[in-house]
Amino acid sequence: MTTTGATHQPLSSDLGEAMEFIRNVPIFSDIESAELAKIVRVGVRKKYKKGSIILLEEETGAALFVIISGKVKIVRTDDDGREVILSILGENDFFGEMSILDGLSRSASVVAITKAELFMIHRRDFLKLLQDVPSVAVSLLRELTMRLRKADSQIKSLSLKDAAGRVANVILQLADDIGTIRKGRVEIDELPLQQDLANMAGTSRETISRVVHMFIKKGHVDMHGNKMIIQDYEKFKSLFT
Ligand code: CMP
Repeated sequence: MTTTGATHQPLSSDLGEAMEFIRNVPIFSDIESAELAKIVRVGVRKKYKKGSIILLEEETGAALFVIISGKVKIVRTDDDGREVILSILGENDFFGEMSILDGLSRSASVVAITKAELFMIHRRDFLKLLQDVPSVAVSLLRELTMRLRKADSQIKSLSLKDAAGRVANVILQLADDIGTIRKGRVEIDELPLQQDLANMAGTSRETISRVVHMFIKKGHVDMHGNKMIIQDYEKFKSLFT
């Protein structure tokens, strides 16, 4: 695997637009304009083609990334090249903080699943920002806490639930990560491949197919091509969590 398709551009080339974007990112939302301008000046904007490898598991972590546009998947792979998707992140999300904070290697690989534009901040600049602006550290902790809650719920689902419960949990996770709400329904525009869903749910492709058909028959979800629609998100969640 190689890191392909990245082009670089200093974010300061369009300071106003960059400041607007950075202010909308939850971990930077409480920063004063002067601090914000500093981040924008030290950051670099990078564009990636769909399918590009952005980070590789086991590399040394040198930077944090914020997603300006597009979607990425966070994956772990085993020695046979099989992969499991841990999460899918989109606009305004960040990644790459773990190895920056603990000094160990990257905990997972990150791959662009659409074309993506990212804002990269070098390790030393981000660490300095955490020291200078406590609200960034608090927002970062809040987001990491949410990720831990999600991971706890994945562990519970994988260890305690039957196949239908595990598949439902994966669908709910994807709805949270990449779904859009329309009148009480949640639409997941590009459902990952059945093999990806199987790896996430700790089951087989055949089981995914069987359970999704059962969900369709019971009226919980609908499929249009690879778009999934959860008819009543709250009801579906209450049945399976
Ligand atoms: P880092 O270990 O530096 O590089 C890989 C990144 O993937 C990691 O930082 C996190 O930002 C992100 N990551 C790892 N595990 C998860 C997870 N379970 N949910 C969301 N993001 C994750």
